[in-house]
Amino acid sequence: MNTERIRKEFPILERRVDGKPLVYLDSAATSLKPKTVTGALAHYNEELGANVHRGVHSLAEASTKEFEGARKKVAGLVGAEQKEIVFTKNATEAINLVMNSLHRKGFFRRGDEILITKLEHHSNLVPWQFLRDTAGVKLKVAELNGDFTLDVADFHKKISKKTKLVAVAHASNTVGSISPVRELTEAAHDAGALCLVDAAQSVGHFPVEVKKTGIDFLAFSGHKMLGPTGIGALYAKQELLEGMPPFLFGGDMISSVGLEKTEWNEVPFKFEAGTPAIAEAIALGKAIDFLEEIGLENIRKHDKALTEQAIIGLRENSALKLFCPSNPEKQAAIVMFGLPPFDCHDVAIALDEMQNISVRSGMLCAEPLVKSLNSKGLCRASFYLYNTKEEVDIFVSALENLKKSRKRKN
Ligand SMILES: Cc1ncc(COP(=O)(O)O)c(C=O)c1O
Repeated sequence: MNTERIRKEFPILERRVDGKPLVYLDSAATSLKPKTVTGALAHYNEELGANVHRGVHSLAEASTKEFEGARKKVAGLVGAEQKEIVFTKNATEAINLVMNSLHRKGFFRRGDEILITKLEHHSNLVPWQFLRDTAGVKLKVAELNGDFTLDVADFHKKISKKTKLVAVAHASNTVGSISPVRELTEAAHDAGALCLVDAAQSVGHFPVEVKKTGIDFLAFSGHKMLGPTGIGALYAKQELLEGMPPFLFGGDMISSVGLEKTEWNEVPFKFEAGTPAIAEAIALGKAIDFLEEIGLENIRKHDKALTEQAIIGLRENSALKLFCPSNPEKQAAIVMFGLPPFDCHDVAIALDEMQNISVRSGMLCAEPLVKSLNSKGLCRASFYLYNTKEEVDIFVSALENLKKSRKRKN
């Protein structure tokens, strides 16, 4: 993988503050966007401009062709059929779509159970809490092992014939642990439940194949995989989508409308009411081209090498507390840490001011887990294909310097 060449495609990396280059270690929050992606946004707005699935004029047809072409690329990325990809705003909306639609269908009965894990981002927790509080569903939570990986034995213990849905993060956005979604999906199916996978931190970082894993629903966001904000996707098996009622109502999701009776469009359009994020979908298609040209296996190798380098370097720093799985195979490109007694936000500000390093700090949108490890929050560094070994070194020594500055003060 030629990182130097890749970096040239991300103009923001030329940004300097006091002569110091940007060290962007916050891709788990949102990734940077290459020129082909920002170019695609401009291309749609400057050269196409028309709505999709409506007009018959040539611009409308060109817009529709590019928009549906992007859907084909998203489907190809996860090994799905085009009809099985619903464009959403982001992973959060994809999960809410499943929750609302299944709820409306009457899929959940009082006393049914939903099984999630301690790793969940708020997006894959709060919708199920809403369901618990409105439909009387019981929410069960599988525990973690001491090394922050999912306690799969506890997961198996908590799944039962009462379980109607399993909803799990593929890769955690905090401790970075990767869960065995194939095994979890099989366990869900054996219990007669459906399996939803929150793939916001996995799609775009390593290969994810929905047919091989048997996953029923897969939710992900374009902006975490080099695409623009405002576009994400839900994969769902076609037969499931066909049996689910719409979540939003209006134009495009219908096939015929009368004052008395309206019929829904075929899938996936039944779930895409109103004008979609056309430019963003087309740009997401370009992000997928970019990722596939490099190869997801290569990206995973690169992510893994940087993550391991960071962990080895950070372990040298006796003041740091790391919260990571012990097995690098089970770790996404995410390292969560604390530098006591510094407040996490002070650490993030110091890294920014000292070395132009961007890391995330706080509850990381996974408050139950992060709070259980530190009541005031933690920091997170995350890596992607444009990061370099030199940047990891800068990051590791900046934290070492912070530790020393504390000693000097004492
Ligand atoms: C694991 C996980 N799930 C869901 C989300 C929500 O993504 P979005 O805000 O794009 O909907 C995130 C975002 O950080 C995430 O990391």
